[in-house]
Amino acid sequence: MIKSNYLYFLTNNSSINLLKEEIKLKYPQLKIAYSNLECGFLTYKSEKELSISDIDNFDNFNTIFSYASGLSIDKAKNYKELETKISLLAKNKILNSYFCFQEQQALNDLFSQPIKQKNFKENDLVDLVLDIIKIREDNFFIGIHQFGKYRTIFYDYDYHEHGQNNEISTSLSSPPSRAYYKIKEALALSNKKIKKGECVLDIGSSPGGISYFFLQHGLHVVGIDAAKMHETCLANKNFTHLQIPLEKLEQESSKLSELSNAFDWIVVDINLDPEYVLSILKKLIKNKTISPLLKSTQLKGFFFTVKLTRKFSIPKIPSLIKNIEQLGFEIVFCKQLPSNKSEFTIFLSNNSKNN
Ligand SMILES: C[S@@+](CC[C@H](N)C(=O)[O-])C[C@H]1O[C@@H](n2cnc3c(N)ncnc32)[C@H](O)[C@@H]1O
Repeated sequence: MIKSNYLYFLTNNSSINLLKEEIKLKYPQLKIAYSNLECGFLTYKSEKELSISDIDNFDNFNTIFSYASGLSIDKAKNYKELETKISLLAKNKILNSYFCFQEQQALNDLFSQPIKQKNFKENDLVDLVLDIIKIREDNFFIGIHQFGKYRTIFYDYDYHEHGQNNEISTSLSSPPSRAYYKIKEALALSNKKIKKGECVLDIGSSPGGISYFFLQHGLHVVGIDAAKMHETCLANKNFTHLQIPLEKLEQESSKLSELSNAFDWIVVDINLDPEYVLSILKKLIKNKTISPLLKSTQLKGFFFTVKLTRKFSIPKIPSLIKNIEQLGFEIVFCKQLPSNKSEFTIFLSNNSKNN
């Protein structure tokens, strides 16, 4: 059985300090061993040697600000050394020959037989996956993780890179804001499908990246924001703008119920203290007219973007999560998405229905 004192974490490179703070609070027994800002890569040392199954005992091992993590088992200084070390691991049948490379092509060129990524199935969960993290041409980390654990889809697809590079222009053909990518990624991670004709309540909707995404897919959107919406949203017949702050929504409850019997999706993306936003949402959920629109069995998902500010920082996250649980939804994930900057996304679903 492979054992190591080291764990590795990958994150959006702009979030490395957030991840460090999260780990320090959640796993004080870990000591930082290596940090590479450019790659968004960290390793931590544990006093006790760990096997892959020990990770599960790490207080429900899960970090908001990391999109992949696992056991860091070795290092290599070049491709040749990497090849030798991997062959040894494979020869000893420590690993099933499943590989998950950051740089698949370069490694395919290195090995005489191209490495094919196995088509994983749900019941493959016990299998180990080998991770190679290339820092530079002369610096590789070798890691392992249990298939399906401690990572998001952003590890295997190009969302990660995309998230860091998306420059939004204000031209009409482009999405009105970065939030377009946030909802795209959040939906991909939630594994839920949107359907034409469904109804979205978009709170904090201006300028309109999220509304634009749903409108493009044929959904109906009600946007709540005192600020102006982008003209592409306003020109769409499936869009209605209630140009008011969230605090005024209770007063406009009859207007809201005229627009929809029940929402299929709720999105909250407001640049205010999340504790404060939550207190308003709690009031709305208690309101007799609004509650059936928000908490119907029809609800497929509720995305809540949590903005980190000087006032609302990482130590406050656990109590926020407890408060959110009191809204009566099921928390499916709390994750920083590639397009999230100093923020992360909580995805909630209706716990009375599996849809
Ligand atoms: C990050 S932007 C939202 C981006 C938007 N979701 C999009 O898709 O383009 C934050 C928004 O929160 C809005 N906001 C701030 N305070 C608000 C409040 N009390 N009620 C509703 N919206 C608010 C701002 O006007 C701003 O448009």
